[in-house]
Amino acid sequence: MLHHKVVAASVSELVQLGPQPVPYAPASGPLIDTFGRTHSDLRISVTDRCNIRCFYCMPEAGAEFAPVSELLSFDEITRFVSIALLLGIDKIRLTGGEPLLRPNLPALISELGELSGIRDLALTTNAVLLAKSAQDLFDAGLRRLNIHLDTLDRERFRTITRRDDLARVLAGIDRAQAAGFKRIKLNAVAIKGLTEPDVIPLVRFARDRNMEVRFIEFMPLDAQHLWSLDRVLTADNMIAMLTREFGPLTPVPDSDPRAPATEYRFGDGQRVGFIASVSRPFCLNCNRLRLTSDGKLRNCLFARDETDIKVALRSQDPAAALEPLIRSVVWQKWAGHEISRSSFVAPQRPMYSIGG
Ligand code: 5AD
Ligand code: SF4
Repeated sequence: MLHHKVVAASVSELVQLGPQPVPYAPASGPLIDTFGRTHSDLRISVTDRCNIRCFYCMPEAGAEFAPVSELLSFDEITRFVSIALLLGIDKIRLTGGEPLLRPNLPALISELGELSGIRDLALTTNAVLLAKSAQDLFDAGLRRLNIHLDTLDRERFRTITRRDDLARVLAGIDRAQAAGFKRIKLNAVAIKGLTEPDVIPLVRFARDRNMEVRFIEFMPLDAQHLWSLDRVLTADNMIAMLTREFGPLTPVPDSDPRAPATEYRFGDGQRVGFIASVSRPFCLNCNRLRLTSDGKLRNCLFARDETDIKVALRSQDPAAALEPLIRSVVWQKWAGHEISRSSFVAPQRPMYSIGG
């Protein structure tokens, strides 16, 4: 597609035109950036609200949310996805905030299910509300669930999330398995000085329930800026703990080298994964784009810029307006975050407002 030179007569006209694509991004072919990374994975946040308050994400009180009127509608999300699919996106993950707070989420799953070209559709949830909606989600066509669970200890759950909802999460897992979800993944954020006692019990729990745990290193995305390098429980720390308990772990060759988790197998075949964003950054393999609930496209969790896609999405010819914008956002992606450097600056939006 050719880029048109945009000439605006006035500032208000410029505002109406919305963000403009950079003219030097490729106009066709796959969604590639200047480092040769092809993008095929889109994470969509459906709300920035959450019903718990994990300290590594949200402030205890006073979280700021986008006005509901700014949220993309289900039709808009579906329209965006249908255009992204034409550009090579084939993997979609719905996130939040807590996505189950978005009323009628199964309807979005069904709408997305009608599009052709989605190879993989998944949902990340904290499972507090899952017991109620697991069956509806499954019936709407969802098959892949990631459940965020850091601890099986009620007190620590309360410390981390500032809510007493562990029993509801466990009931949510039960209902999801009863509804038919197989190989559910558990996401556990690992924090030094806090979650060491959870590593082994979570692995055992997952094995007993035919699930897989993935430990995520604590990243500097928390609203209160409590993160520091010495609060990161690293993949190596955890591998050492697990080896002492269960014997040697063998690396599993990557089925998808661009997936963020590094996986290991225990002697009995059970797997465990690590998302070692801090100690083993995987930015050079990153194929992900993120759409926030208020319609901002981001090329990195840690990006300091984002592009509003609402004007393009609501224009007469959304495909024509969006394609160059999406290509631009990808083309402008940096090499990667530099969490471990002193020059690192955390993004303005905390995790709940970006989407995991
Ligand atoms: N560091 C690492 N992971 C985080 N998550 C939220 N905040 C952080 C953080 N600061 C994870 C949660 C959730 C996923 C969307 O992101 O575990 O499952
Ligand atoms: Fe909510 Fe997820 Fe943030 Fe926890 S990490 S507060 S569950 S959005």
